[in-house]
Amino acid sequence: MARKLLLEHIQVPGINTFEVYRQKGGYRAVEKALKTLSPEEVVEEVKKSGLRGRGGAGFPTGMKWSFLAKPEGVPRYLVCNADESEPGTFKDRYLMTHIPHALIEGMIVASYALGANTSYIYVRGEMMPQIRILERAIEEAKAAGFLGSNILGTGYNLELYVQPGGGAYICGEETALLESLEGKRGNPRIKPPFPAVAGLYNCPTVVNNVESIAATVPILNMGGEEYAKIGIERSTGTKLISASGNINKPGVYEIELGLPVEEFIYSDEYCGGITNGKRLKAVVAGGSSVPILPANLILKTAKGENRLMTYESLADGGFATGTMLGSGGFIVFDEDQCIVRNTWNFARFYHHESCGQCSPCREGTGWMEKVLHRLEYGHGKMSDIDLLVDVSKKIEGNTICPLGDAAAWPVASAIRHFRDEFEWHVIHGEEAQHRNFGLAHYADPLTVEG
Ligand SMILES: Cc1cc2nc3c(=O)[nH]c(=O)nc-3n(C[C@H](O)[C@H](O)[C@H](O)COP(=O)(O)O)c2cc1C
Ligand code: SF4
Repeated sequence: MARKLLLEHIQVPGINTFEVYRQKGGYRAVEKALKTLSPEEVVEEVKKSGLRGRGGAGFPTGMKWSFLAKPEGVPRYLVCNADESEPGTFKDRYLMTHIPHALIEGMIVASYALGANTSYIYVRGEMMPQIRILERAIEEAKAAGFLGSNILGTGYNLELYVQPGGGAYICGEETALLESLEGKRGNPRIKPPFPAVAGLYNCPTVVNNVESIAATVPILNMGGEEYAKIGIERSTGTKLISASGNINKPGVYEIELGLPVEEFIYSDEYCGGITNGKRLKAVVAGGSSVPILPANLILKTAKGENRLMTYESLADGGFATGTMLGSGGFIVFDEDQCIVRNTWNFARFYHHESCGQCSPCREGTGWMEKVLHRLEYGHGKMSDIDLLVDVSKKIEGNTICPLGDAAAWPVASAIRHFRDEFEWHVIHGEEAQHRNFGLAHYADPLTVEG
């Protein structure tokens, strides 16, 4: 069995309560940090761990913390990004639902390291059960003296608030999130300045994903160097993967980074293989924003090496033959899935969620959706395929925030690897309209109750 750091006690009855979480060793990381380490030493431990942001971009967390500006007399903020709206990604809500104190403990450790006395957890607005769960956990931690004034008699003060999100995918982009937290429409800001210099209320701010913040707890408990021994290369530690699509066991899995993709898909410890014994057709490995890869390229790199669940291995080959680990939203497509239909479905999402500030994204996402729709329903022309490639190239790299890239990559990669399927739709126009290929089910397969 693989080592678990975040989900180790997930099966323990009552682990969502302060009492049981504490019995299982909870809040030791807070005691260690506040009583025995300086904020700089906590940052150093996180740097040593090699932890990379689990929200999608994989930026080293310790380095991000060390960039935080520290002007005299200006407050600093930690904001936890719990907006989690990427299709195929549902790991953060799983952690918050079942082990909310793991996040609260991480928030205290990280806030102390950054010198923040007020911190926020920005939770996707639709996740009301998780909002209630976190508010209850904060009350419990406060009653036990782990939040509020003079925590554990150390003189450190921290107020922690939960903020329901604005109800749009774009509110997960860190600067849009900060706008929304300030009470405005969630439009991404032009960078620079970066949040580390001018973030919430124009003050230095760190925005981190739920899982990144929760991971600081095992890092402090075991020490950064020990944590860095798990995984390989610059992919250290464990990672939560949301697995969905045509697999026998959809759900959230904690893996040690470095696990072969093939083992993740086929072993009974994880996805348990493809449903109904069908063949694997393709995988979207890191949430809907990353390039799709066909079966041969997700299992092996173009060099013939086993593809591993690491930032480096998944990216091997660049966008020609590789993809990204992203947020760890692992969507599996079997042989019956229609790539054109699934690509159109993604494109619809990005068009709907574009905030409209920049023309390439606002117009381009709509254009791609329209062209994909006519291809899917058998009204497309051969030239539409290259038109889609052209539009995706004009969006990529030309927008204020990465939503534009996130919309362009799935379309470009689907055509790169499955052009024949797009051509099939053009050639078999009327037939394409009436056939019923599948649409992968990548919604949250877990019924999360409060
Ligand atoms: C459109 C869009 C949506 C995003 N949604 C999320 C999200 O729901 N959760 C998240 O942690 N990061 C999300 N991100 C990434 C954040 O901008 C940011 O990189 C991340 O919160 C940083 O945390 P980390 O360094 O711990 O990964 C999104 C980015 C974009 C462009
Ligand atoms: S890329 Fe799209 S979502 Fe991002 S700022 Fe521009 S229009 Fe808005």
